[in-house]
Amino acid sequence: MLRVGILGCGNIAAKVADSLKGNKKVVIAGVASRERNKAKKFAANHCPDAKVFSGYEKLAASDEINLVYIATPNTYHYEHAILCIKEYKNVLIEKPFAMSKAEVDSIFFEAKNRNVFVAEAMWTSYLPLHKTVLDWIAKGRIGAVKYVTANLGYDIANVPRLNSPVLGGGSYLDLGVYTTNFALSFMGDDIKVSRVFARRLSSGIDRDTTYSMESEDGSILGNFYVTMCADTDKDGVIVGERGKIKLSNINNYRKVELLSSEDTLLEEIVNKDAYIHGYVYEFESCAQAISKGLIQAPDMPWARTIRIAQINDTIRSMM
Ligand SMILES: NC(=O)c1ccc[n+]([C@@H]2O[C@H](COP(=O)([O-])OP(=O)(O)OC[C@H]3O[C@@H](n4cnc5c(N)ncnc54)[C@H](OP(=O)(O)O)[C@@H]3O)[C@@H](O)[C@H]2O)c1
Repeated sequence: MLRVGILGCGNIAAKVADSLKGNKKVVIAGVASRERNKAKKFAANHCPDAKVFSGYEKLAASDEINLVYIATPNTYHYEHAILCIKEYKNVLIEKPFAMSKAEVDSIFFEAKNRNVFVAEAMWTSYLPLHKTVLDWIAKGRIGAVKYVTANLGYDIANVPRLNSPVLGGGSYLDLGVYTTNFALSFMGDDIKVSRVFARRLSSGIDRDTTYSMESEDGSILGNFYVTMCADTDKDGVIVGERGKIKLSNINNYRKVELLSSEDTLLEEIVNKDAYIHGYVYEFESCAQAISKGLIQAPDMPWARTIRIAQINDTIRSMM
């Protein structure tokens, strides 16, 4: 049983704790907040058997925790990851993993030196339907990939964290990291950013960002759109030389469809998930990797996190 400690009692931490209730492989064994009462209330509401820690340092140092789940704002991921890794704690870090490639490199350097497990909570990479789509492509069901597109938009501009440059807000860092992971998953690693257009607020925050990517050899084009100002359909399409794959909601796969070039439906898989939320898969993947003595999650290896960080740096510099 993987004993998880939650670092930061916010919105996503609550959803994760609720989704892990009754899990047979992973248990929330501790919760830490900067304020003791907040952690107590969080535990009472979401994981009553968890130990309450007042301050993140005590959680990081606890012998009762195998993995710390870092669920603080983006600009704090680096500091909190290093805190835990220096205590030899395995960590699962919310997306975006860090604010720059330099921070990512530093986290992996410290983890490698101590043989500590680290993974990015890019939860879509761990979903069973994500693996189905990778498998269809690997088996040549649509032939060589030619064009990839996805959008991800929520009407969430009123969320304070997203409007704060100090906390690493903005549509790209919140949502674009998913579309970039989508691009890397289905276009491959050898891709570059060709164009970026962002509408920015006076604070510098990007409220929407559109960007194009292409493969280094020019054979695949990708177009992506993220916004924190509108609920979009969140769909993705991968077009190959002999067919296409449609994904309903690239942030929480509801359905994947395999179609011929003439749009005949060849296969359709609807998500019939028994879990209340797909967050479970990333934790189960960490539990399995740690039990095998690995320091990376095979579903989300360090190389992928590094590539996302490189692309993030490029896109943000082109806004
Ligand atoms: N995977 C997903 O689907 C998903 C969804 C939403 C967010 N996220 C990611 O999860 C992270 C947290 O997002 P969230 O929406 O849960 O944020 P949130 O509700 O604002 O919670 C963040 C928590 O971080 C702690 N914190 C530490 N320093 C802070 C500071 N200076 N200001 C504010 N909070 C601070 C607070 O916990 P204490 O007060 O208890 O210390 C706070 O409750 C972000 O990196 C975000 O990108 C992922």
